[in-house]
Amino acid sequence: MAFDGMQDPGRNDECWCGSGKKYKKCHLDADGRMEALAAQGFEVLPRTLLKTEADIEGIRRSAEVNVGALDLVEANIGPGTSTEQIDRWVYDYCIDHGAVPADLDYEGFPKSVCTSINEVVCHGIPSPQDILQEGDIVNVDMSTVKDGYFSDSSRMFCIGEVSPERRRLVQVTKEAVEAGLAAIRPWGLLGDVSRAVNRVAVDAGYSVVREFGGHGIGLEFHEDPWVGFHDRVGDGPVLVPGLCFTIEPMVNMGKARINMKDPNGWTVRTADGKPSAQWEVQVVITDDGYELLSW
Ligand code: MF3
Ligand code: CO
Repeated sequence: MAFDGMQDPGRNDECWCGSGKKYKKCHLDADGRMEALAAQGFEVLPRTLLKTEADIEGIRRSAEVNVGALDLVEANIGPGTSTEQIDRWVYDYCIDHGAVPADLDYEGFPKSVCTSINEVVCHGIPSPQDILQEGDIVNVDMSTVKDGYFSDSSRMFCIGEVSPERRRLVQVTKEAVEAGLAAIRPWGLLGDVSRAVNRVAVDAGYSVVREFGGHGIGLEFHEDPWVGFHDRVGDGPVLVPGLCFTIEPMVNMGKARINMKDPNGWTVRTADGKPSAQWEVQVVITDDGYELLSW
């Protein structure tokens, strides 16, 4: 029995990944490396989480729709846009492109996208009452399922003239995600990515929300691993090629503490009422780095 409880195929048998290749020409070497790292005490996730070429192709097609939906928002958002309007844009875009918004009905979520304005940290619910005003910062978090494959990314938008203070929060949060991407090493550790993200935010004087993080994704909306960005993340699992996950820190201008008491059961706010920002990207680890799937 291998490190993850799976039975390895014989050298000349078909690889477990469904590539149709012989095991020795496919995952044999990588599996040996995983086995050795597990024996050394590193956290090595089960191979069932690794995406095959066919999976990655499916996720790419899903991610194209996700990116396209956010591009549409980017082209049209501005002062006077209601978050309800954003919801309609992305819903229609998904349906027109053979996909479905993954948020819709997810654990009872009533809309197709999360729209989180200013002190809302995440999971803001689109509403005709929420009209974006000059000076607002808003996160639009979009997830798509297409042919059974999931994609997920989010962007910040500055509405009209935004104060330098808020603009900096938005910019630094983006740089934190970029630092996370730059820290990705195939066969490296996820904790190094998390720490790189955290450092940028904290060095700028901000704090990072502890309760929420990134996640594995692909065949499900939320898979292992959980990807924390707070200041005490451990080493985390090994970044094996084929692992697909999001990087999505929520960065607060003030304190990290959040308030989850909104009666709607979803909307999360900063406890101190100061603004929060988030950017989210989705990547898959490759043999020589990573592929950016959605942003
Ligand atoms: N898109 C979010 C994420 O990044 C999840 C939103 S779940 C919802 O993981 F139900 F609030 F839509
Ligand atoms: Co996500």
